[in-house]
Amino acid sequence: MTETPATAGNSREVLVDVDQVEVHFPIKRGVVLDRTVGHVYAVDGVSLRIERGETYGLVGESGCGKSTLGRAVLRLEKPTGGRVVFDGVDLFGMKGEQLRRMRRRMQMVFQDPLSSLDPRQSVQSLLVEGMRAHGMDTGRTATDKRLRELLSAVGLPSTSLRKYPHEFSGGQRQRIGIARALSVGPDLVVADEPVSALDVSVQAQVLNLLEDLQAELGLTYLVIAHDLAVVRQIADRVGVMYLGGIVEESTSDDLYEEPLHPYSKALLSAVPVPDPTVEDEREQILLSGDLPSPAAPPSGCRFHTRCPWRQSTRCDTERPELRELKPGHRVACHYAEDIRDGRLKPHEVSADAVNPADFGDLDITSAHPA
Ligand SMILES: Nc1ncnc2c1ncn2[C@@H]1O[C@H](COP(=O)(O)OP(=O)(O)OP(=O)(O)O)[C@@H](O)[C@H]1O
Ligand code: SF4
Ligand SMILES: [Mg+2]
Repeated sequence: MTETPATAGNSREVLVDVDQVEVHFPIKRGVVLDRTVGHVYAVDGVSLRIERGETYGLVGESGCGKSTLGRAVLRLEKPTGGRVVFDGVDLFGMKGEQLRRMRRRMQMVFQDPLSSLDPRQSVQSLLVEGMRAHGMDTGRTATDKRLRELLSAVGLPSTSLRKYPHEFSGGQRQRIGIARALSVGPDLVVADEPVSALDVSVQAQVLNLLEDLQAELGLTYLVIAHDLAVVRQIADRVGVMYLGGIVEESTSDDLYEEPLHPYSKALLSAVPVPDPTVEDEREQILLSGDLPSPAAPPSGCRFHTRCPWRQSTRCDTERPELRELKPGHRVACHYAEDIRDGRLKPHEVSADAVNPADFGDLDITSAHPA
């Protein structure tokens, strides 16, 4: 983890400015007419800024729009609204060759290296491919040197060059995926669930590698994960997503110490705390109802159908904006101050309330790293 923006003052430069981004996928019906009968509001008005050299973590339940947002930032997904400014340039206004050249500076690391690496290509060919596409394969000696440097940076021997993806373990394959992303010298790396396909014992090694590479190369990361422990280890700042929107954003320490949005509070209340005295005194926040469909998101506050603090006045009708409650800590809840200061109490939960630990595949059982 690098120095956080909060501690660094305002001197850090914004590398990625995401402004009211929307990605709405049309739902089509009918073979002949192909009518649009609705939309999946996968990303619905997200604004965030990623500063140069920091790691921004995105967390949230399965289907809340994390991957779609990551892909939109790289312009791999066509946005239906808003804009992304990368290093001062509006990406959504770019096309063709201009966009292709810009892509060198923004690379992606995928969850499953086996399906993202072509099994028929040797490691050498996989690594050279991107360099060639961007005119960086300038001669045999220089390219050989570069390939060896890349492998050494990700902790693989140079003999790996002649091998094929299936000859490596999962962790080694993810190292190849990282080397491939780095081969073209990007500024930004979007890593979508970079360690969730790996054994727990290997996860920490790959996260440490990402952190070392960041320090060495001055990289900026957007890390997407459903595992709160992963985000806690690697992210300087965290955005919590719920149904296509960011509901809370703060430094990772702040979020884990004092979550302010009811949804984040519920997620973190289910995380076991190593201290048994603290653990006994903690109250778990249960949520009623299932995650609504992103094709029919609730009106007003998207979380109102499950929120234990829901108020009849504004929650069902008015969508809360992200507001700064304290420096660097933004929350999208009309009543965040009243909840924080204990002026509002949570309602009794209904019989169908669930422990957030049972949410889909969101791993909240290990958010406190050993
Ligand atoms: N190409 C697409 N066409 C239609 N709907 C899509 C498409 N891609 C994603 N979606 C839908 O958009 C919503 C958000 O999906 P997304 O993959 O971004 O979620 P996620 O937060 O990354 O989930 P997970 O943790 O499971 O990876 C989901 O309801 C998904 O089904
Ligand atoms: S705005 Fe209302 S429903 Fe939404 S999180 Fe706050 S209290 Fe809950
Ligand atoms: Mg995803």
